[in-house]
Amino acid sequence: MVYKSLIPRILFILSLMLVTISVQAEVSASSGKTLFKNNCASCHNKNMKDDLTGPALGGVQERWEGREELLYSWIRNSQAVIASGDEYAVNLYNKWNKALMNPFTNLTDDEVGSLLLYINNMYSAGCAEPPCEDAVPGGPAIAAEQTNNTPLYLTLMVILGILAVVLARIVSNLNHMVQTKEGNAPAQRATLVDMLTSKGMIAFVLFALVIFGGYTTVNNAINLNRMQGYAPDQPIKFSHATHAGLQQIDCQYCHDGARRSKHSVIPAANTCMNCHKAIKKGSQYGTAEITKIYASVGYDPATDKMIENYEDMDIDAIKKVYTDWIESNYRKDNSIEEGTALPKDGVEEVAAQWDGIVSSLTTDVKDHVSGPIPWVRIHNLPDHVYFNHAQHVTVGKQECQTCHGPVEEMELLYQYSPLSMGWCINCHRQTEVQFSGNEYYESYEMYHNQIKDGKREKVTVEEIGGLECQKCHY
Ligand code: HEC
Ligand code: HEC
Ligand code: HEC
Ligand code: HEC
Ligand code: HEC
Ligand code: HEC
Repeated sequence: MVYKSLIPRILFILSLMLVTISVQAEVSASSGKTLFKNNCASCHNKNMKDDLTGPALGGVQERWEGREELLYSWIRNSQAVIASGDEYAVNLYNKWNKALMNPFTNLTDDEVGSLLLYINNMYSAGCAEPPCEDAVPGGPAIAAEQTNNTPLYLTLMVILGILAVVLARIVSNLNHMVQTKEGNAPAQRATLVDMLTSKGMIAFVLFALVIFGGYTTVNNAINLNRMQGYAPDQPIKFSHATHAGLQQIDCQYCHDGARRSKHSVIPAANTCMNCHKAIKKGSQYGTAEITKIYASVGYDPATDKMIENYEDMDIDAIKKVYTDWIESNYRKDNSIEEGTALPKDGVEEVAAQWDGIVSSLTTDVKDHVSGPIPWVRIHNLPDHVYFNHAQHVTVGKQECQTCHGPVEEMELLYQYSPLSMGWCINCHRQTEVQFSGNEYYESYEMYHNQIKDGKREKVTVEEIGGLECQKCHY
């Protein structure tokens, strides 16, 4: 009898462990480093000591002392904190000439925590995870917090699970023995099936499911409609800041669909070639990124000719064309004569660039480097919604930036607006229709006449039917 109560106890302890694991925080300087590199490094210096487009971040936690929560909000959406009128935030913004910091609304608390840990370590110790190899003398070393232990925990869970079954087996055998000894009518010995369907086991499984289910549901609910700020890495480090900002190329030069059709369309590599036939090396990445365009269309930059039958060419021959090109540029940059051996660094650089081309241009569905560049789609309305670019850009005369934000400042493009129904509706309520000189509105005689007679100042999109369900829903 005594032993029987053991089973629920073991199971209870197991459940507790499961709970501990599922709420395990994963704050780490190494994930902070990756996050920083992908999201912040374009504007904040990674030495944390010098200013760049944005201020040096070293010591930022001291500057926001006692207002940790607000600092987290700032990192997620600095404009919201500025709009709230916070004095420090407003002063900072003005000091930086109202330069915009991107919103990162999809960062979790753990991720922001990781970022701050990384910032602090870089600032005070000079590396992500102190003690550093060549530590700054006198710099206080802050131990890096937990690393990712998930695989370890999973293994542990499995072992404990097996242990529990074995123990339960032993307990049931012991019970059987005790009962036989006491002369009780020998109960049927519990089989494995009995055990797996025992109350304790069922309770355990239910409990585990509830915890797990709750955790994922809440997580998903939070992430729903959280695509705002989504900024996936793209196969080529294409920068809107360089092209639309610095070079002032018109949005519609590349996205010419916006004016005349439902979709804006991502430009084909041929559009890139209009300029990159001539611009073969960039000031930032040298040959590393632009060569990817050539490999996708089959252009040999050394001879300035398109390669014939490129799609059927085998990968080794293609590799030769582009590694030769990368190598000859490497030689030029480092003044190494043709015919002499490349140093180890050079060999590695050429190999790394070729690997970069292959991994950027091939995907699960496309196993050749030729063909369209596999850009990752960022904006995506559900299928039941009808949205038309031409209607907004050409007829409604809306600027791209009203919906897509300061694209010309974006190093890596991100989704600026929430794309929720409320967002569409709000704008339709507030935005005035541009009547003057617009044939599309000839049919709204009544409104026209009212404006002429001075009875009405403006007409909003709402008043021409912009809130009717079927206008936006199929
Ligand atoms: C597009 C450029 C840009 C990017 C990307 C960017 N920031 Fe900023 N950040 C700024 C600017 C500019 C300021 C100064 C305030 C202002 O003008 O809004 C700032 C200010 C800050 C501040 C306040 C500093 C202080 O001294 O109080 C923090 C914290 C900060 N950024 C963190 C981050 C983090 C973390 C990331 C990445 C997740 C990031 N920023 C990405 C431009 C950027
Ligand atoms: C030189 C060509 C070029 C110019 C000019 C250009 N873009 Fe782009 N745009 C691209 C490419 C390539 C992509 C896909 C890669 C990416 O997302 O960065 C893209 C992606 C986008 C996306 C995201 C599409 C998605 O996946 O949801 C938006 C929005 C966008 N551009 C808006 C603009 C706006 C607004 C301008 C003008 C301020 C502009 N672009 C200027 C080439 C260009
Ligand atoms: C109208 C001309 C034009 C078009 C079209 C154009 N680019 Fe560019 N691109 C430039 C210029 C100018 C630069 C700056 C070169 C430099 O860094 O000095 C540049 C730079 C780049 C760079 C950065 C290279 C580096 O190392 O700094 C990449 C990558 C790039 N372009 C990719 C593309 C892609 C992909 C497309 C097509 C979607 C495209 N470009 C279309 C003019 C153009
Ligand atoms: C009224 C808001 C609005 C304006 C103005 C607007 N867009 Fe968009 N854009 C959207 C929405 C919403 C989507 C998502 C569409 C979808 O998923 O079907 C989108 C998607 C895109 C895409 C991804 C490809 C596609 O068509 O789905 C590109 C590229 C783009 N826009 C570029 C532009 C450019 C360039 C301009 C200016 C000429 C512009 N947009 C003006 C709201 C707007
Ligand atoms: C920046 C403001 C703005 C946003 C955001 C916006 N719209 Fe519009 N929308 C307009 C304007 C202005 C018009 C008027 C142009 C016209 O009458 O054709 C319009 C017209 C329309 C029309 C045609 C209505 C009619 O009566 O003919 C549809 C459909 C539409 N929008 C769908 C959407 C959807 C879907 C979204 C969200 C994904 C959206 N809009 C977001 C400004 C906006
Ligand atoms: C101006 C455009 C617009 C109008 C008008 C509009 N919707 Fe929507 N609706 C949207 C967009 C955009 C979404 C997608 C939101 C998302 O993905 O978060 C949506 C989503 C929905 C959904 C799915 C649930 C959700 O939030 O994702 C329902 C249901 C819905 N709309 C019903 C309606 C009804 C009923 C009306 C009329 C009273 C209406 N809509 C009018 C743009 C519109």
